[in-house]
This record gives sequence, C-alpha cells and structure tokens, in this order.
Amino acid sequence: MTARFTGRVALVTGGGSGIGRATALAFAREGAAVVVAGRGAEPLERTVRLIEDEGGTASAVTADVSRSADVARLVATAVERHGGLHIAFNNAAVLDAGPVTEIGEDAWAAMVGTNLTGVWLSVKHEVAHMRASGGGVIVNTASIGVTAVPGLGAYGATKAAVVALSKAAAREVIADGVRINVVSPGPIATAMSMRPGEDEDGRAARVGERVPAGRIGTADEVAAAVLWLASPEAEFVVGHELTVDGGATA
Ligand SMILES: NC(=O)c1ccc[n+]([C@@H]2O[C@H](COP(=O)([O-])OP(=O)(O)OC[C@H]3O[C@@H](n4cnc5c(N)ncnc54)[C@H](OP(=O)(O)O)[C@@H]3O)[C@@H](O)[C@H]2O)c1
Repeated sequence: MTARFTGRVALVTGGGSGIGRATALAFAREGAAVVVAGRGAEPLERTVRLIEDEGGTASAVTADVSRSADVARLVATAVERHGGLHIAFNNAAVLDAGPVTEIGEDAWAAMVGTNLTGVWLSVKHEVAHMRASGGGVIVNTASIGVTAVPGLGAYGATKAAVVALSKAAAREVIADGVRINVVSPGPIATAMSMRPGEDEDGRAARVGERVPAGRIGTADEVAAAVLWLASPEAEFVVGHELTVDGGATA
C-alpha cells in the first residue's frame, strides 16, 4: 500500500459513522492526519480510537455543519491542531423519507440545512483557508438518490443541489489551486440505507434485486473512490461526479 497522503491533513464531516468513518480510516492508513466532525462526540471519539489503534493520527471536533460559526471553528481547529488543511470530505447528511407532498417542514429544513447549506458552508470556509495557503482538494458527497425515487424527493433535491453547487464552485476555484469533485454513492451498507423494521438480510435482498452488481456496496468501496479523487493521480479531474453504485444508474 502506498501512502499517498503523508504530511496531509484531511477533514471528514460525518466521520463518526458509515462512509465518513471508513474514509477517515482510509486517509489515516495512507498517512494523513485526520479530523473527524459531527454533532455527537462519542461516535467521533470511537473513530479517533480506531485510527490511533492502527498507529494513525486523528482528532475529533463536534460541530453542526448547518451552522456557519461551527464550520468556521471546525476549519480553524483543524489548522491549529494539525498545522494545515489540505483535504476536505464534506459528507455529513441526514435522510428523512416520505412523499414530497407529505414531508414535514421540520424534516425539510433539517435536510436542506445539513445536506445543502452544510456543504455550502463547508466549501466556503475550507476554500477561504485553502486559497490563502496554496490550495487543496475537496470532495462532496451527493447520492444517486438524485434520480427520481418515490419517497426520496426532498433528500434527492438536496443532493441534486450539491452536485450543481459543487460543479459551479469547482470551475470558480480551480485557478486558485482548489480542486472540487463529487462522489455519489448508490446503496451502501450503513445505518442510512436501513429501512424501519428491516434487518441486514432484508436490505441485502431489496437492494440486490435493483442493483446490476447484485449486492449492496460497502463504505470501504466509497472511501476508495474518495481517496482517488483526493489524490494527485486525479489532478486533472475537476467538477466530476463519480458514482459508486454497482451499475444502478448505468
Ligand atoms: N448509505 C447509503 O446508501 C448512501 C447512499 C447515497 C449517499 N449517501 C450519503 O453518504 C453520506 C454518508 O452517509 P452514511 O451512509 O455514512 O450514513 P450515516 O452513518 O448516517 O452518516 C451520516 C453522518 O452525518 C453526520 N451528521 C448528520 N447531520 C450532521 C450535521 N448537521 N452536522 C454534522 N454532522 C452531521 C452524522 O453524525 P451525527 O448524527 O453525530 O451528527 C453521521 O455521522 C451522506 O452524505 C449520505 O447522504 C449514503
């Protein structure tokens, strides 16, 4: 295994679980110092312990990405603790399912606040630091849920907006040395893809039927795509949406 990120500092929002935790571990295994962020302290501390147990460097910052002051503090803390910020994986999100006409106003506001405003605020504060410090790389998490899925209209709308925002921002900041791309996972085996009352076998059967690859994806498979997008090998990849979905949208 090569260590593509030695000497780099990587920030991962939603780093206390699922895809965020897997990606934080993957960055740390390849030499990065990792800062994990989320609202709950305990899951973040668990990710830090997992990284430290493998000999890596990590720290946790509790922050709500829908609040500008939290995101500003998050970026400043990462720089202060680890001496810089070179990579950001803006991955925190919430999902509340329901028909577009039935979704509650609080659920709508929570999804827009975290999934869209949270990514916008993250990009804004991260780019300000990266521009001033010689550049950086950002990967935002969208979703293949942007395609018309009944019950996921509100969530999908926030994720479609993340793609639009990321592509425009990518064109705006690449000349300043900041490279932005998007990863769009298909169904991945994390807490978010589990339906109420479903067990892992039930989910595997439901997903297996509609994904050409015949199975659900893993958080590690998304992490591998994120690391490639963040790596020097992807230097000329700008404003790209990389799907990791077993062929679901092919
Ligand atoms: N799993 C899938 O099938 C799938 C498919 C397509 C896209 N995705 C996307 O992949 C990303 C990761 O999801 P996952 O599957 O790993 O689910 P997950 O385990 O539920 O991860 C979501 C993370 O976001 C954090 N978070 C939520 N609201 C936040 C806020 N306001 N501020 C800071 N952190 C917040 C959560 O931590 P706290 O609650 O402690 O804050 C949690 O760690 C999301 O963007 C999701 O939309 C997932």
